[in-house]
Amino acid sequence: MRVSVRRPARGLAGTIEVPGDKSVSHRAAILGALATGPTEISGFLEGEDCLNTLRALGALGVEVTRKGPGQYQIGGVGLEGLQEPDNVLDCGNSGTTARLVLGVLAGQPFWSVLTGDESLRSRPMARVTQPLGQMGATIVGRSGGNRLPLAIRGNRPLRGFSYRSPVPSAQVKSALLLAGLYADDPVSVEEPAPSRDHTERMLAGFGARVTVDGLRVTLTPGGELRGHPIHVPGDLSSAAFFLVAGAIVPGSDVTLSRVGVNPTRTGLLDVLQEMGAEVRVSERVDGREPMATLRVGTSRLRATRVGGSLIPRLIDELPVLAVAAACADGPTELRDAAELRVKESDRIHAVITELRKFGARVEERADGFRIEGGAPLRGAVVQSWGDHRMAMALIIAGLVADGQTVVEDTQCVTTSYPEFLTTLNALTPEPCAILEP
Ligand code: S3P
Repeated sequence: MRVSVRRPARGLAGTIEVPGDKSVSHRAAILGALATGPTEISGFLEGEDCLNTLRALGALGVEVTRKGPGQYQIGGVGLEGLQEPDNVLDCGNSGTTARLVLGVLAGQPFWSVLTGDESLRSRPMARVTQPLGQMGATIVGRSGGNRLPLAIRGNRPLRGFSYRSPVPSAQVKSALLLAGLYADDPVSVEEPAPSRDHTERMLAGFGARVTVDGLRVTLTPGGELRGHPIHVPGDLSSAAFFLVAGAIVPGSDVTLSRVGVNPTRTGLLDVLQEMGAEVRVSERVDGREPMATLRVGTSRLRATRVGGSLIPRLIDELPVLAVAAACADGPTELRDAAELRVKESDRIHAVITELRKFGARVEERADGFRIEGGAPLRGAVVQSWGDHRMAMALIIAGLVADGQTVVEDTQCVTTSYPEFLTTLNALTPEPCAILEP
């Protein structure tokens, strides 16, 4: 499938709700499965990634009931209630499913095999399989356990330990904390910079003993998890496409309600404001996961520098931030973001290759890029690289390019945001992005 995009005659205007947060949805399902008693989830993201987590849990003997759009009941089986799956668990495109489920399986006294699509099978897994092996799980697979398909036989109890992660990764941290539920001693994970902390927050909500001391998180095993209702806030990573679109498409005024604003996720808001975008945050609701209304209007953007501990706070937003940089005055530089090379695609190479087709002045660096903004973008035929966030970022670029843009291979958008085109087109009187078979 492909999407043809035209510049809207007027700006983007209106109020939208973005779908549920992907990271929070995965965690609600997994922790709900391990809890005693049912967990009712509302606002669950029905994108392919989170559906893959539900399917994996179903294959492990968890009862998952869809009660309505985004509403699920997860029948908790308790920490010791999972069953050996009778077939391979296919995680599709979802790195979060693969890595978090590996953490859970490390504590199960049975064999499981995990695989994924071509993209996921090329992504590094040693970052979780190596420490899970140290805790006592047996994991074998391609590249010495660094690539799916992987077979895992868990152990109980696992050994508690203290792990210093070389990368700031919430998936690594979460896998080890989940495995820690099956350990005989506390498990501590220390990161070089803070990554998203949804797992810590949610574990505490389920009654687990979790403490945070600077960059170190410790889970003390013992006791059970207690099922309870969870509301998933809107995904800031999905809102990101509309925040950038609202800032760069002339004549826009877009409001996004009930978006998750966990401070470990809000790097994009900081950077857009620093670039001169008019982003207003209001109606904040503080809960375990804070939410707010975000409003953005067309703004003249200036270039900026992005690097250091900001990177994990906006890692998934960097493709669309590159589009904002192409529209800003001056050179924007991104550093310290080599992790982008091992996402659903090599996002440094992919975004630079595709923005060049629009006529943007770009330079690829080992750990980031330099984008000299301000040159008008020309409509182009561009590729998604099978990566949902690339596809959506390029559709946003098409909204400000002269003439027509065609983004090819857009089926992948369903990974995280099945309603993306409908929501985008609802912001203009005439549809600006048309899906073609
Ligand atoms: C995620 C963590 C991040 C992020 C991914 C979702 C999570 O990955 O890029 O989309 O839900 O834990 P890393 O942990 O690899 O940085």
